[in-house]
Amino acid sequence: MAQYFDNVDLKSEIRKFSTSVLGKDFSFFTDNGVFCKEHLDFGTRLLLENIPWEEVKGKILDVGCGYGPIGIIASKITGQAVTMCDVNKRALHLAERNISENQIEGSVLESNCYQNISDTFDTIITNPPIRAGKKVVYEILLGAKKHLTSLGTLFLVIHKDQGAKSVLKELEKEYDVEVLKKNKGFFVIKCKIR
Ligand SMILES: C[S@@+](CC[C@H](N)C(=O)[O-])C[C@H]1O[C@@H](n2cnc3c(N)ncnc32)[C@H](O)[C@@H]1O
Repeated sequence: MAQYFDNVDLKSEIRKFSTSVLGKDFSFFTDNGVFCKEHLDFGTRLLLENIPWEEVKGKILDVGCGYGPIGIIASKITGQAVTMCDVNKRALHLAERNISENQIEGSVLESNCYQNISDTFDTIITNPPIRAGKKVVYEILLGAKKHLTSLGTLFLVIHKDQGAKSVLKELEKEYDVEVLKKNKGFFVIKCKIR
């Protein structure tokens, strides 16, 4: 079955929505075939509203960026440049357009998990692609370790029905883990390199 992140030949119907996060206004172009095309996803918003931004310094990577909300909002809040990656070409084009639309400094690249990422980052943020399967999700979450600096942090959001508890157990083997927020079954999780 085709998933929203496949580069399927779906009719393009670009639209734009506006939203506020932490008192800042944003506009995003979205399209058919990208994750949560009508509004900012509830889990994504919860993640963005519960990251302790005063701790976020240095280079940021948004893995599975979709049309770009996490990276763009992170850059606007921190003033840092972001790198955003995804496997969905349509999402990547939108993310580029949304970088200009929201006037932030960022770069976008096509990458299956970290395949085309050679840099290390101080912060990695993700709302991981559950529908891509466990292997991809773990590759993004545990693979982050190799792409974080020695004091780096991974922030993520995951729902209990998407395996949040078993994901937490796996993360605890690799990182110092803290659950920052639980709301409507979503867990916002912070993972620090030990
Ligand atoms: C849950 S969505 C989050 C999108 C966006 N960050 C947001 O919060 O609205 C997960 C994203 O991961 C992307 N994705 C799926 N498989 C991937 C992979 N193997 N490597 C990188 N990104 C992937 C999907 O295309 C999708 O855009």
